[in-house]
Amino acid sequence: SDCAIGIHDLSCATTEFVLPHATLAGHNGTEIGKYHVGIGQQSMSVPAADEDVVTMGAAAAAPIVARHGADRIRTVVFATESSIDQAKSAGVYVHSLLGLPSATRVVELKQACYGGTAALQFAIGLVLRDRRQQVLVVASDISKYDLDSPGESTQGAAAVAMLVAADPALVRIEEPSGLFTVDVMDFWRPNYRDAALVDGEESITVYLQAVESAWKDYTEQGGRSLDEFTAFCYHQPFTKMAYKAHRHLLNTCGYDTDESRIGRAVERTTAYNRVIGNSYTASAYLGLAALLDQADDLAGRPVGFLSYGSGSVAEFFAGTVAPGYREHLRTSAHREAIDRRRTLDYAAYRELHERSLPTDGGDHPVPQQTTGAFRLAALRGHKRIYERR
Ligand code: CAA
Repeated sequence: SDCAIGIHDLSCATTEFVLPHATLAGHNGTEIGKYHVGIGQQSMSVPAADEDVVTMGAAAAAPIVARHGADRIRTVVFATESSIDQAKSAGVYVHSLLGLPSATRVVELKQACYGGTAALQFAIGLVLRDRRQQVLVVASDISKYDLDSPGESTQGAAAVAMLVAADPALVRIEEPSGLFTVDVMDFWRPNYRDAALVDGEESITVYLQAVESAWKDYTEQGGRSLDEFTAFCYHQPFTKMAYKAHRHLLNTCGYDTDESRIGRAVERTTAYNRVIGNSYTASAYLGLAALLDQADDLAGRPVGFLSYGSGSVAEFFAGTVAPGYREHLRTSAHREAIDRRRTLDYAAYRELHERSLPTDGGDHPVPQQTTGAFRLAALRGHKRIYERR
């Protein structure tokens, strides 16, 4: 349609290192089936000492700027729940590393894993107001829980960058949205901690309640019927959650919940999350990338999105895949970002996990570990110094 607005380009990045779940299981004695089948995770991305949400976000966004230029980008929205500063937006560092024009507005958004969807929806609103402008959305996160806690197996890290524009080449985002908010403490991270706190069982219960409630609102707002959707991109704290969520949605709507039907709807969206782990704000859009990057042709097909952010806020909405979308994918770059990761042994993983940056405001170089394009090079006078190589 004339007013189609949505995702014009989509690019994913992850970390230097990876920890296989087999290694974690070897340390803690967990039967590996619990990880591979029970939660549906194979491995998790682990950031190097000189990687954070800025370096991953810049790595995801750089190919988009290289392809489209920055002339029409008037806004950068950075979504994260792993923020590095209470005041300054991580997006300003990315804006600087990518050499974006000074005539840009930049802001950071937060509501747990829902922040990426908030950024996407706000970007659509801006493009609706001025159809010539493009908005760069960056969703970047590090999922970190305490060592030897139940959450440890659901860690991970990644960034997704999306260029939001009129007449998008990949996915047209539709009205309406189904919305849901409830004040709960299922997962949170106080300012003095770098690892999240979580009530695992409660978080799954609230997630499923949010799926049901957001869908109910979507239906009341006049949305599509469930049968029309080809696939569903759920927020994936671990890939098994997408199956749980879809089973719950089918149940809610009074459908059969046979496993092959659920598999057809969600399996293709899990390929990247299964080996990267939880990437919070980026997770549902890594699901979209995995879906689009698979072989069959989705042109014209509606895809459902369910974004969930603990605390909690959820949104269900639809997108239609654009004709000719396959020419604009980054399938080989995504594969490369996953395959190039270096495998950690348990001791090296533990050392990275226990490491924290000095807080004395002194002059500290950060050990060079990443071979990626962007790195955190030093701390100096309470400031972070980044480098593009
Ligand atoms: N073979 C196959 N399956 C096995 C198995 C084996 N040997 N052993 C156990 N399992 C299965 C269990 O049956 C269970 O499956 P079901 O839930 O389908 O029954 C699954 O493996 C997990 O087992 P447990 O529930 O016993 O695992 P746990 O107590 O270690 O907790 C967890 C799992 C709650 C996900 C925990 O890892 C956690 O707290 N993670 C962080 C919180 C989280 O990710 N919550 C998700 C919803 S909140 C959200 O989505 C926002 C966000 O990003 C955080």
